Amino acid sequence: MKAILCTHFGTPDDLVLTDISEPTPAPGEVVAKVVAVGLNFFDTLIIAGKYQKKPPFPFSPCGEFTGIVETVGQGVTGFKPGDHVLGYCTFGAARERIAVSTDKLVKLNVDLDLVRAAGLAITYGTSYHALADRAHLKPGETLAVLGAAGGVGLAAVELGKLMGARVIACAGSDDKLAFARSHGADATVNYASQDLRSALKDLGGEHGIDVIFDPVGGSYSEAALRAIAWRGRHLVVGFAAGEIPKLPLNLTLLKGCAVVGVYFGDWVRHDPQAYRAALDQLARWAAAGKLSCHIHQVYPLCETPQALKALTQRQAMGKVIVQP
Ligand SMILES: NC(=O)c1ccc[n+]([C@@H]2O[C@H](COP(=O)([O-])OP(=O)(O)OC[C@H]3O[C@@H](n4cnc5c(N)ncnc54)[C@H](OP(=O)(O)O)[C@@H]3O)[C@@H](O)[C@H]2O)c1
Repeated sequence: MKAILCTHFGTPDDLVLTDISEPTPAPGEVVAKVVAVGLNFFDTLIIAGKYQKKPPFPFSPCGEFTGIVETVGQGVTGFKPGDHVLGYCTFGAARERIAVSTDKLVKLNVDLDLVRAAGLAITYGTSYHALADRAHLKPGETLAVLGAAGGVGLAAVELGKLMGARVIACAGSDDKLAFARSHGADATVNYASQDLRSALKDLGGEHGIDVIFDPVGGSYSEAALRAIAWRGRHLVVGFAAGEIPKLPLNLTLLKGCAVVGVYFGDWVRHDPQAYRAALDQLARWAAAGKLSCHIHQVYPLCETPQALKALTQRQAMGKVIVQP
């Protein structure tokens, strides 16, 4: 079968498409045919050796997928051949078939297209965990989303609206902002042409911004934090801009606000039941048309490097998908 392999740390162009032997399931594992792979920004970090996890070589990148169970290993209960599954595996999904432990799988209980569903686990899962569990976002609150047209950003815009918030989308181009508006954003800030801090202060009014969803980092984080409300929550989701910012702690004192870390992988490990319940909810919302699961582009497996470059070159709006 075909697989994309990373044989040394480098760029997307260093990945190779190759033939490897078919997997067999170890005890507690299933083998699933991979239908669609959802790409995430951290895939670009893992192949560069810049992610917190460094898999042994050679490995396939890509951490989330949808698939169909083909064979089950010894001791597996709850999964059978033919089941449609959502998978979260950190790395290993960019291949035609994957052997994966069942604790990394959630069965899809609704009728949902497996290509559309390929971003539900990590992408929508992260934004749901951030807004519901970490920020306790309430109806009527104001939510500002940085990187609002990206994977987790667009998911935060849509989930913020579903949770009853007023959503301000912040992004680096007018096209991306029009896209975020068409997915429910109430107001927009172009942080490439506007001063983020003063634009958010204007839109937040005297009260300020209740929740900031920040997957971008760099200089944007402090600018946004300066517009936060009393008792606001600044969600630290990621650093797509490259630089990990250092925030002046006096701002948290003056605003009585919280800077809150969000770590999807540890949430799944620490609270698997909550994760499964959340994915069930997300799948039902997606099947009901309440979440777009918008796809930027679907690439064949051999074009995984080009697909990853759509993320590093800041082109993607919604999810980038690879289909083996
Ligand atoms: N904490 C967690 O558990 C968790 C889970 C998932 C993802 N993340 C993190 O969240 C971030 C976003 O992930 P994603 O998969 O949603 O990525 P994505 O789809 O590529 O979105 C990232 C967004 O960041 C903005 N950006 C600003 N500077 C950038 C740069 N130099 N290069 C690329 N993008 C830049 C882009 O929007 P503009 O062009 O509009 O600025 C882009 O839409 C990443 O840092 C990722 O590691 C964290």
